[in-house]
Amino acid sequence: MRGEGFTILVFLTLVVLKGFYFKRGSAATVTYDHRALVINGQRRVLLSGSIHYPRTTPDVWPEIIRKSKEGGLDVIETYVFWNYHEPVKGQYYFEGRFDLVRFVKTVQEAGLFVHLRIGPYACAEWNYGGFPFWLHLIPGIQFRTTNAPFKNEMELFLAKIVNMMKEQKLFASQGGPIILAQVENEYGNVEWAYGVSGELYVQWAAETAVGLNTTVPWVMCQQEDAPDPIINTCNGFYCDRFTPNSLTKPKMWTENYCGWFLAFGNAVPFRPVEDLAFSVARFFETGGTFQNYYMYFGGTNFGRTAGGPLVATSYDYDAPIDEYGFIRQPKWGHLRDLHNAIKQCQEYLVHSDPTYIPLGVHIEAHIYHKDSGGCAAFLANIDHTSDANVTFNGSSYYLPAWSVSILPDCKNVIFNTAKVVSQKNLGEFPHEHTTSAREHLIASSSSWFWYKEQVGIWSNNSFTASGLLEQINTTKDTSDYLWYTISIDVTEKLLPNNGEALLLLGSLGHAAMLFVNKKLIGFGYGNHEDASFTLMQKITLNRGNNTLDFLSMIVGLQNYGPWFDIAGAGIFSVVLGGLADAKEDLSISEWTYQVGTEGEYLGLDKTSLANSSLWTSGNSVPLNQSLIWYKTTFTAPEGNGPLALNLSTMGKGQAWVNGIGIGRYWSSYLSPTTGCSKHCDYRGPYDASKCLKNCGQPAQTLYHIPRSWVHPGENLLVLHEELGGDPSRISILTKTGQEVCAHISESDPAPVDSWKLNSQIKPMPEVRLICEQGWKITSINFASFGTPEGQCGKFSHGTCSGDNVLPIIQKACIGRESCSITVSTFDFGDPCPGVPKSLAVEALCSA
Ligand code: GAL
Repeated sequence: MRGEGFTILVFLTLVVLKGFYFKRGSAATVTYDHRALVINGQRRVLLSGSIHYPRTTPDVWPEIIRKSKEGGLDVIETYVFWNYHEPVKGQYYFEGRFDLVRFVKTVQEAGLFVHLRIGPYACAEWNYGGFPFWLHLIPGIQFRTTNAPFKNEMELFLAKIVNMMKEQKLFASQGGPIILAQVENEYGNVEWAYGVSGELYVQWAAETAVGLNTTVPWVMCQQEDAPDPIINTCNGFYCDRFTPNSLTKPKMWTENYCGWFLAFGNAVPFRPVEDLAFSVARFFETGGTFQNYYMYFGGTNFGRTAGGPLVATSYDYDAPIDEYGFIRQPKWGHLRDLHNAIKQCQEYLVHSDPTYIPLGVHIEAHIYHKDSGGCAAFLANIDHTSDANVTFNGSSYYLPAWSVSILPDCKNVIFNTAKVVSQKNLGEFPHEHTTSAREHLIASSSSWFWYKEQVGIWSNNSFTASGLLEQINTTKDTSDYLWYTISIDVTEKLLPNNGEALLLLGSLGHAAMLFVNKKLIGFGYGNHEDASFTLMQKITLNRGNNTLDFLSMIVGLQNYGPWFDIAGAGIFSVVLGGLADAKEDLSISEWTYQVGTEGEYLGLDKTSLANSSLWTSGNSVPLNQSLIWYKTTFTAPEGNGPLALNLSTMGKGQAWVNGIGIGRYWSSYLSPTTGCSKHCDYRGPYDASKCLKNCGQPAQTLYHIPRSWVHPGENLLVLHEELGGDPSRISILTKTGQEVCAHISESDPAPVDSWKLNSQIKPMPEVRLICEQGWKITSINFASFGTPEGQCGKFSHGTCSGDNVLPIIQKACIGRESCSITVSTFDFGDPCPGVPKSLAVEALCSA
């Protein structure tokens, strides 16, 4: 009989493999119907995650994609970043971090699908939303509307990317991984601002996309009026209430935010995994079949790639894989369990629409049936505070508030979104220091070199104009900086007694330094929500000639909103008050301008200038200097993991390692002191301001240096400091191990993958620990079976604590990359009969 069962099993496996699994290199058709995307004739439940290729380095793409696959993803989603692919009109760039073909092929090699969001508008907190700046300079152009010059360029770029993918045989019909493509991005959110032209543009964008014959479906996200056959998809924190604009289209979710992006001057947003899992489960419960995490891995806005205004360099996003490429626990693990549970329902989900059964106030059941019998059910308690006991299908179930239980057989709860049984990791690198991170100073005070930049006009490539110029149109995004300079002659008559006057400055943003007679007298700045600001500053003027030099700075070009591409920046008004006769409006005077700073012009960030005599050295490095460049060399900490540069002692500026821009920093801009909650209640609707941490601190002090950007021996670090800081205290960190832990009780659910639904035997809860990076468990820091107390990192023994627990755990785990221990009296004996018990373990992973 065993043989017969085995034959059936092999047969079923083959059927399943043929139907559901994508064979690398073999052509596949992709269509859709009301229920789902249909790949090779099979409806599919698909879990997807955003990874933007330039936000990390190609050498780590495989590892991040592997971790995504292990986390239960089927699809990797990315935008395409036009401004870096076509920096100059007609000149293309697809190398290094921008090697799109290599990225798509890397996903394919991992056996996953790709959703290519060609746009070409991306948004994505990316400089100018992904548009190249030259586009803006085309005469008569208007972005994202029915405007011939724009449409012409957009069509050329769409075609360029589609043809490139076709040539490389990357669409599914050619045996490639691309199953889906996106045109535009959330245009529906701003369409109102473009009137009828906006509506026409949507039609045109849809027709143009379809005309490119990709052979895969196109989507438009947040686009209710997306014309057939384009699928309109949902973006948001929740999408269970969403329905597509036609019964012929499946319910798809292209952006479910795992957290939110970070801006300088803001606190750090995070989203509890219980709520994220709840939103995903609700979506599949209510008929969804495709869901994408934005971001599954966020990464880093290197160089000047960050959008704006004031988007930070870290794009960590509280994603399941953190900025440094490490797995974030328990987020990653809990979602993996969720994906596993959803996949166990797949055959029912793809078969029919759900049937809704109200079970009480705020309690909903949705059931999916199959013709051949059987069902899968989702039970949801959407109340914000009250837990509930419900009866379903003859059994009773406990449903915590704001949670969904998944029952792939309409009977057994194999997963509840509020019950996290996955491992937790302590001390998130590099933000929380633990014993498993190493940090050292980058250089001694005497090994720094510096270059003090000129204030104001520094060369003869300056120019004059009457009135105050808008900054972005002037710099054309070649630099963050624009100098506004004017000389004023103050006669005896005008000068107030003590020389004091009042300077009033108005700026569209994003920040500006004010120098009077070459002395720094003020600094003004806006924030992400509103980058404009005004400054009122007392100044002292001399008799005769005075110079005013203002350095206006951009912190990322705007990337979102109606007509965002023409949002201006820079100084628009300068008024001098307090003079003897009246106030003087300098806004309409003749000004001298200079694009960029002197150091930029000299190329001080470049490795070729590392040994230049421009650099000064001395016994100790000058501190708290404005407009200064610093340079040193450092040896990277041993190992092959990523590095973090601690710039907490610096002010504001940019940094380069071996000539590559690691991003803008702004450590002196503290976030508001209120609005943070250490333990954010996941229950109830989440939004980007609900769960914040790091109030009253800089948004970011630690900056990612990819390991592949350093080499053995000496590496060059260059900083351009604008405001003033202390470079002698800059340090570098690396991770040498990790502390992992779990606390599981006898009544917790068993790991999702241990369920055999048709068997009589119920699986047991387990403590499962896994190390990353090939590290092994080298010690068990805590182990207790009984009533251990406290949280991970702070466990203590309770009143009941079994003997010999530690040696059992040590035996199971030490020297291994992963281990699992069943939580039961069978292994540990019963230290306190009748008392509910749990197992708490904390371990150290290291090389
Ligand atoms: C969405 C947009 C994304 C990203 C996100 C916020 O509106 O489509 O590209 O900007 O907001 O992170």
